[in-house]
This record gives sequence, structure tokens and C-alpha cells, in this order.
Amino acid sequence: MFRSHTCGEIRIADVHKEVILCGWVQRSRDKGSMIWVDLRDRYGITQLMFEEKNLAPELVAKVRSLGREFVIQAKGTVIERLSKNDKIPTGEIEILVASFEILNPAKLPPFLIEDETDGGDDIRMKYRYLDLRRNTVRKNLELRHQVSRETRNYLDAQQFIEVETPVLIKSTPEGARDFVVPSRMNPGEFYALPQSPQTFKQLLMVSGFDRYYQIVKCFRDEDLRADRQPEFTQIDCEMSFVEQEDILNMFEGLARHLFKTVKGVEFPTLPRMTYADAMKYYGNDKPDIRFEMKLVDLTAEAKGKDFPVFDSAKLILGICAKGVASYTRKQMDELTDWVKRPQIGAKGLIYARVEADGSIKSSVDKFYTPEDLKVWATKLDAAPGDLLLLLSGDESAARKAMSELRLEMGNRLGLRDPNKFSAHWVVDFPLFEYSAEENRYFAMHHPFTSPKPEDIPLLATDPGAVRANAYDMVINGVEVGGGSIRIHDRTLQSQMFALLGFTEEEAKHQFGFLLDAFEYGAPPHGGLAFGFDRLCSLFGGSDSIRDFIAFPKNNSGRDVMIDAPSTIDQKQLNELKIALM
Ligand code: AMO
Repeated sequence: MFRSHTCGEIRIADVHKEVILCGWVQRSRDKGSMIWVDLRDRYGITQLMFEEKNLAPELVAKVRSLGREFVIQAKGTVIERLSKNDKIPTGEIEILVASFEILNPAKLPPFLIEDETDGGDDIRMKYRYLDLRRNTVRKNLELRHQVSRETRNYLDAQQFIEVETPVLIKSTPEGARDFVVPSRMNPGEFYALPQSPQTFKQLLMVSGFDRYYQIVKCFRDEDLRADRQPEFTQIDCEMSFVEQEDILNMFEGLARHLFKTVKGVEFPTLPRMTYADAMKYYGNDKPDIRFEMKLVDLTAEAKGKDFPVFDSAKLILGICAKGVASYTRKQMDELTDWVKRPQIGAKGLIYARVEADGSIKSSVDKFYTPEDLKVWATKLDAAPGDLLLLLSGDESAARKAMSELRLEMGNRLGLRDPNKFSAHWVVDFPLFEYSAEENRYFAMHHPFTSPKPEDIPLLATDPGAVRANAYDMVINGVEVGGGSIRIHDRTLQSQMFALLGFTEEEAKHQFGFLLDAFEYGAPPHGGLAFGFDRLCSLFGGSDSIRDFIAFPKNNSGRDVMIDAPSTIDQKQLNELKIALM
């Protein structure tokens, strides 16, 4: 027997028991006649005590040779500790060691394997297997496991079955960029890794599977951010004979189940917000509604007063930051610099302070009378002590910048507590978004999304105004999942492809299998996919999904531990008939 117990389970009731423990040396303290070693495994830390007088001299020398992260096995008796440690569950006992083995020595690790480590990001990623020994990182993976187990429990109970779909599939032009894999047996041809199993899950509905799910890896070659990885995991789901309402209820149920079992948080019914309202009041389609601070359109009120910046703007937006009229000049300059950063893109920031006596002082007093400013304050529902912040620009730039500023003010005012959860649906997304650059429409969600039946006539006359039966679940400003009711009618699907600029032939080449399938009895169906990594990071109170992925990529898409991507040798290239430029 290698071990009788783990390092996390022995308690005061076990005193006098003979035990065998295995683990890694966290640290040791040599007090001459006695040496203490903290032994760590996945379950916790148990203190070992070596008494010089009871051990053979060569064993004592061996104890003294122990370094951090040596793997050892120790046999001994559980005793009550003289000085107890109430910070750890095993803190009342220690093991009086009778014999021990070094199972494997270890080189000095390149950073401290403790909760507070001295290792920077790069070094921890290079030695990710050591980073994973740290409590904080290990706990994130345990949480991930719990979320996946509870997801399966819920969906299994609802008669969903998990079906695996292929990873080597066909490249499609819509969506993000594909990762491609050359085919040796078909020179000059490539597989693509799936951006999602979208078409396969729809085909499974045609096959009659009715309720499908898969916790599945997806691959997208896109620019990376804290909440985006090139390979990530979805909880991918699809259902037949459903309307949007059925899907929203089913997956609201999943979200509630996960929050309850993983976080112990009960949710009321999720509120719903239209895409149009989300854009109007929050400036983006995934609003963080843990706090108000809604965007207010002040274009009519602030234009036409000879302030050139506002007079040349298409849209002027304001927010009211409660209680911070006292921001100093320095703070305002710093905030102005913040909105001018390229990521935010504003040209400047206009502000007005509502003083204790109700008078208003603004950065544009030259152009606006006290009465003008009062009108702003009234529209923004401001009270004495509040700070009004105004941005302007063209329609989308002003919304984007104000949305970012709102979130930033939310942070600064402590309104975005990661332990408070606010979930809602955003519904009625537009079916298309127009790219001025490419002079054509793109599917906002994907080309299989169904228009709202009442908007179908607009497809021919005003495609930009067509709303989709598409929905996103948003929690704390994070898009955790999204989906849609699908088109199940071949003619409508063909019309959709045509609107997206596919010729009949291209549509057949890309998606002929799906169009064919729709001619063999496709049921009405719909579904959604949750971003599994995002859900986990949300539960863990972190903005970064990397912390919840065992072996993540860095921001340049590299795995610095295995050093991928890497070049391949000429023989492989020859076999694949690939010539490098
Ligand atoms: P969508 O593209 O919205 O929908 O993706 C679903 C969810 O996956 C998560 N997500 C990501 N997470 C980490 N890194 C990424 N690069 C990344 N990209 C997306 C998000 C998102 O909400 N097939 C459709 C779903 C459907 O219609 O059923 C789809 O993939 O949380």
C-alpha cells in the first residue's frame, strides 16, 4: 500500500493511528533535535515530525537532505500537536515519523509553489505543471470539474444525450477564421477544426435525436483577449420541436441549477432585454446590469450651442456618476486621458459637477448657461454631489466609448462586485449586420438563424431591419452563451445564403449536405451554446478564462510549455505536399 490516507483528511480523532502518507515537501523547519516537514498533496497539508533521538543517523541525514517538492512516503503515528494551527483542517495533529522514503528528488522549482507565489505569468505558464500544484490554480480546475458534472446532471435528467461530433471538418467562410489541418491522403486539401459543432447538431436533429448536448472543444483563429482562447470549450445544446420560449426556459434552468449547486446562489426568473434597448441604454449587447448608470441621449439638448465638438457630433451621450462631483482636476484629467486611449477612442471628455447647493460647474461653461446644464442634470436624474460625464462622436463610436466609460466608472465606484451575480437574456438580435467595408450583409449570429416570422417579408425589402429569433445569456456583462431558433426550411435557408452573398453554387459547395438534409424531414429546432470556460471564470470571480483552463495558450496563441506552434520538418512538409513561401 502506497498510502493509507491523503494529506488532507487526518483529524484529532485519528490520534494513535498508524498511517502512511505520500506527497510533496512544501517546506521544512529544522530545530536541531526535531525537524518538521509540511507534506502536501491535492487534498491538503499534513505536518510530519521527525525526532532525531528516535531515528537512525542515516535517516536523519536523509531528512536534512529533503528539498522543496521532493516526493516522499512517510510512515508514522498520528499525535496531537502541541502548538495547533487553526488555519488548516489538519492543524490539530501531526505525524510522528518512524520511517520514510524519498520516492523522487526534485530540482528547486523556478517559483514558490504557494498561494502567494513569486513567479510571473510567463514562468508559471512555462512550468504550468508546477503552477497547477498551487491551491489557487488547482481549485479553479476543481470548480471546472464541478460545473461540468452539474451540467451533465441537469441535462441528463432532462433527457439530453451527449453525442460526439467530428473534429476534422470542412472550412467555412462565415464566422471567425478557421484553423486548418492539411490532409496527407488528399494533397492540396485541408480539414478545418470546428468553430462549433453547429451544422452537426442540426443534422442530429434531422436524425431525430431531439435533445443533444456536448461539452466540446471549439477552435477559432481570432484575436485573443482575457475571455477568448483559440481553443475553448462549449456546452453545446440543441432541441427539436421547440420555440424560443422553450429554449430560454430550459437553459435558464441550467444556469439556475449551476448557480445553486456550485455557488449556492438562487436566481429569480431572468429578465429579458431587447438588443435595441441594450444598445440604447448600455451601449453594448452584453450589458452589466449589476448597476444602473444608463446612457442618456443628450444630442437634442447639447447641440446647437456653438460648442464645435458637440455641433459636429452625430450623437451626444451622458451618464451620471453618483457621488463623485468631488473628483479633483487631476482625477478628471486622468479620466480624460483614459477615454482618449486608442482602445476607447474618444476625442475628449466633457463633465459637469452638481455642487452641494444644486449649482452646476462644467468644463464647457463658456458655451452652456446654468439653465442648459440644469436640463442635462434633469435628464440624467442627477442630484447634488453627482458628476455628469458626456461623450460624443458618430453613432457607434460614441456608444462604444460611453459603454466602456460606464463600465470603468462602475469599477471605480465599486459597483461591479464579482460575488454579486446579475443574469439576463438579450433577445431580438438583428439577423444581419452590414459591413460597409465589404459592402454586404453578414449573419449576426450565424447563417442558420431563423428570422422572426413576422419580419420575413422584410428580407426582400429591408434586410437590415429583420430581427432574429436569437438570444444571448449575459451575466455580469459577460456573454456566457448564445443561440437561436434555426431555419429548418430549405427555401428560406437558400434565401438566407443568397442574402449573405453566396451564389447557388457556393451555397451548395459549402452547405449542400445541410440543404439536402432539410429535404428529408427536418423538424423545427433550435439551441444554444454556453462558453464553458467563461462560466467557470465567472463562478470563480475572475475576468480571465486562462486561470480555468489546465493548459491555456498565451495572448499570442502560444503554448509556451510545449512550445507550440512549431515548425515541422521537411519530410513532413513533403508528405503533405506543402511548399513554404
Ligand atoms: P457563439 O459563437 O456565440 O455561438 O459561441 C457560444 C459561446 O461560446 C463562448 N465563446 C468563447 N469562449 C472562449 N473563447 C472564445 N474564443 C469564444 N468564442 C465564443 C461565448 C459564446 O457565448 N454555434 C453557436 C451556438 C448556437 O447557435 O447554438 C455558437 O458557437 O461564451
